[in-house]
Amino acid sequence: MKSVFIGLAYALAALGALGQTARDDSLYRAFGGKPGLARLMADFVPRLRADARIGHFFEETKLSELQAQLTDQLCAVSGGPCQYEGANMKDAHAESKVRKADFNALVEVLQQAMDAQGIAFTTQNRMLARLAPMHRDIVNTR
Ligand code: HEM
Repeated sequence: MKSVFIGLAYALAALGALGQTARDDSLYRAFGGKPGLARLMADFVPRLRADARIGHFFEETKLSELQAQLTDQLCAVSGGPCQYEGANMKDAHAESKVRKADFNALVEVLQQAMDAQGIAFTTQNRMLARLAPMHRDIVNTR
């Protein structure tokens, strides 16, 4: 009985040591960590700019900066050790009239980029599930 207690105490101490920084970074790792996400965004952002439907949104965007911000954001969103320091999604898109169709087009381009990086379908969908709720702050026009 005593050893069970001691075992439990150790387990709790270990959890305590992780403290509030304990997080599930399995999705982050499934994307190949920061290097994998940086590679994905280096492919995704030019695809976005070249897309016939929504490329025009990024006409005046500094693409290297967008790429870096997105890399940090996806890193944080997937449970990785990054801090996203850009604007919140509402402010970042307030100057663009984004429709639901535009949002869906971006998701499609992201899927193409993830396919090109060989990311498994279930892994892709785990990421998309974390991004999807952002439509509430991003889509601002019918
Ligand atoms: C889940 C979907 C999306 C995510 C996660 C996302 C993320 C971001 C991020 C992180 C930034 C940079 C903010 C900053 O630097 O402070 C940004 C900017 C921007 N996004 Fe999005 N975005 C999404 C959807 C869209 C869609 C659908 C459009 C339009 C088709 C769009 C157009 C833009 C534009 C035009 C900018 C501004 C770039 C600039 O500063 O010139 N985004 N987005």
